[in-house]
Amino acid sequence: MAGSEFDIDLAARRLPFPDGSVTVVVMQHVVEHLELREQLIPFFRELHRVCTDDAVLWLSCPDLAKVCTAYTTDRGQALKEDRCRRWPEYSLDGVPVQQFINDLFQARGRHRNLFDFELLAWALGQAGFHSVARIEECDLLAAHPEFPPRHDDEQSLYVRVCKSR
Ligand SMILES: C[S@@+](CC[C@H](N)C(=O)[O-])C[C@H]1O[C@@H](n2cnc3c(N)ncnc32)[C@H](O)[C@@H]1O
Repeated sequence: MAGSEFDIDLAARRLPFPDGSVTVVVMQHVVEHLELREQLIPFFRELHRVCTDDAVLWLSCPDLAKVCTAYTTDRGQALKEDRCRRWPEYSLDGVPVQQFINDLFQARGRHRNLFDFELLAWALGQAGFHSVARIEECDLLAAHPEFPPRHDDEQSLYVRVCKSR
């Protein structure tokens, strides 16, 4: 992963950590880069293996429900404006605004799958994580203020996952 002291391919099906050795996982906007059945669920199974019983996972990703609602509400105009406030350099270069919805789905070929809460909770459940709660970015930052704010609740799904029920 970029900027990490570990060079790990999360799709490689084996994490280089012993069983029950990880207490906290924070992954922002990564799960949507893995193919659901062949990569993400096996990765979640690996996470389940390496996590301690009291481990907590904090995940965020684009929210499929918010993206679809944005399209039917205003073709994505408000979401695009939100993106431009956070990333002033972002531009559609004159392409009609619904292209922003395509950008959220595809990210120029980098995204494999978008999730709403139900689908992400189901994928986590396939790996044995059954305690999944929807949260907001402020909940993650309250627990881990070392992470920079993204201010992206308008388009993102945030969840807190406990290994034990
Ligand atoms: C949109 S960026 C998010 C980066 C950062 N987490 C953040 O919140 O700004 C997606 C990240 O997923 C990582 N990624 C995608 N597929 C990966 C894989 N198979 N193994 C490891 N990292 C992967 C990329 O390297 C990139 O850092």
